[in-house]
Amino acid sequence: MRIVWLGHSAFLLEGSKRVLIDPFITGNPMAPVSAEDIKADVILVTHGHGDHLGDAVEIAKRNNALIVCIHELSRILAKRDVETMGMNIGGSAFSSGIRVTMVPALHSADFEDENGEIISCGAPVGFVVEMDGVKVYHTGDTGLFMDMKLIGELYEPDVMLVPIGDFYTMGIREAVKAVELVRPKVAIPMHYGTFPLIDADPMEFKRLAEKICKVVVLKPGESYEV
Ligand code: NI
Ligand code: MN
Repeated sequence: MRIVWLGHSAFLLEGSKRVLIDPFITGNPMAPVSAEDIKADVILVTHGHGDHLGDAVEIAKRNNALIVCIHELSRILAKRDVETMGMNIGGSAFSSGIRVTMVPALHSADFEDENGEIISCGAPVGFVVEMDGVKVYHTGDTGLFMDMKLIGELYEPDVMLVPIGDFYTMGIREAVKAVELVRPKVAIPMHYGTFPLIDADPMEFKRLAEKICKVVVLKPGESYEV
């Protein structure tokens, strides 16, 4: 599997399928591609915030891709004429060789509709994706929580995608602890550097977390082969 970082929390997992996660491309100053150039079979959305839902609907329509997200958000997106699969925390879904497990995240979520109304859209989540025998844990936006240990024990992720930008999510100190709880083989930092408010030094995270596992720092557009 090839893991491509598209900046912020957006990743493309390329294997037997193309799994896109949190495709915030348009309006992301760090995005290395434009949304029109992205091809995907499945799109996972961790929550309704604009920097995660991003271009999901447009990309789904153009690629005929399925959007996987929490039930409440799926009901909202289904009205936008895309195919959705609304699942809930703790459950797994199997489809064409991919296994997706929805796990908790400690965050908030809302959604702005086309009239500018702010509406509730279910709980924020993370995902464990298994494809071609490789397991990737995308935490979504989250603070540190003890049950990350359970996620590590149950699903034994090979790769953990972990936010380090602080303010809206964990900062470096919490992210290092999260890696210690989950114990992946490889950790890749995300959700930093996009805006001044979430500036963080990924090399500082690497220095601290590398005592626990391998840390791969990507630049937007770069990829890591598992
Ligand atoms: Ni968020
Ligand atoms: Mn966010």
